[in-house]
Amino acid sequence: MRKAGAFILGTGRALPSRVLTNQDLERMVDTSDEWITQRTGIKERRIVGEGESNSRLATTAARRALSRAGVSPEDLDLIIVATLTPDYLMPSVAVLVQQALGARRAGAFDLSATCSGFLYALSIADKFVREDPKRKILVIGSEVLSHKTNWEDRTTCVLFGDGAGAAVVTGSPDGERGVLSTHLHADGSLWHLLTLKGCGSLYPPCDPRIPREDYFIRMQGREVFKQAVRAMEAVAMEALETAGVAPGELDLLIPHQANIRIIEYLRERLELPPEKVFVNIHRYGNTSAASIPIALDEALEEGRLKEGDLVLMVSFGGGFTWASVLMRW
Ligand code: ACO
Repeated sequence: MRKAGAFILGTGRALPSRVLTNQDLERMVDTSDEWITQRTGIKERRIVGEGESNSRLATTAARRALSRAGVSPEDLDLIIVATLTPDYLMPSVAVLVQQALGARRAGAFDLSATCSGFLYALSIADKFVREDPKRKILVIGSEVLSHKTNWEDRTTCVLFGDGAGAAVVTGSPDGERGVLSTHLHADGSLWHLLTLKGCGSLYPPCDPRIPREDYFIRMQGREVFKQAVRAMEAVAMEALETAGVAPGELDLLIPHQANIRIIEYLRERLELPPEKVFVNIHRYGNTSAASIPIALDEALEEGRLKEGDLVLMVSFGGGFTWASVLMRW
């Protein structure tokens, strides 16, 4: 097997305190707790309140990850924030985090790869630390999807939530523990199935010709579902086959948390028992780029990952993009 690259020294997460339950949504749109639970597995999600923002969530998650890693902000070489809901189009969330942390030496940029953003960012960090294993890189997935949600559209508003997760990455201590492989994919031919058009430069704000719905996430859910199950299985198998590992050798699968039925499909295809698959979608819904780092942080806290474990992270999102990262913990 290939030598390990990026090693995670510490993780952290930040969730807004405001909880929006399925019962709350029943009062907002024509839906039911039963429909949402059966079709998605979601029971509640977190929504930002006054004074909370993407960069604040990202900074809080980063501080926790740095503290667990025992790394000072001044030691960071690079900050990558995966997000599709930045505070502003300019500057990036990453520079706001850099400033808030006082990470003066660090370069900083945002990365846009929707729900696969964290795994894309982790794979970039992997390349940087393979070049120089002493580097310290902060990789964050952070989203405020609630501000890009059409709260009158029952087909999307029940799905998403806000939150952030972070990981401090450096080189493998021994060539054994750390990232073993990364696989990134995209297919722009199906971009129209899942969009957030406003306020891109083609969709300027307050243009009366643009329908209101285009300023929010729009999704053809059934079509996206079909693509997601196919792509997530394929990229999971690609990671395992490249590493010469059988699915049964995995200790933990951390899939993107978009829909419990997608997660269950993947679990069955890999013939994994439920205890080997991490699920927290019932608490947070789909937090896009934040979903995998939040899950990773919770898995660690719950003792679901121990030294030497083999963990596979798999994602799928708008674009479409999909990715996997295989790690020896
Ligand atoms: N409450 C009640 N009924 C609803 C709701 C709701 N919230 N939403 C839709 N319905 C209705 C529909 O109108 C439809 O009614 P009809 O049969 O009378 O037309 C019926 O329920 C079935 O709708 P479908 O869209 O076919 O439902 P489906 O089982 O496909 O579930 C869902 C929808 C949950 C969106 C699913 O398709 C899904 O999870 N898709 C994938 C999402 C995903 O993976 N996204 C990835 C990335 S997200 C990102 O990149 C930001």
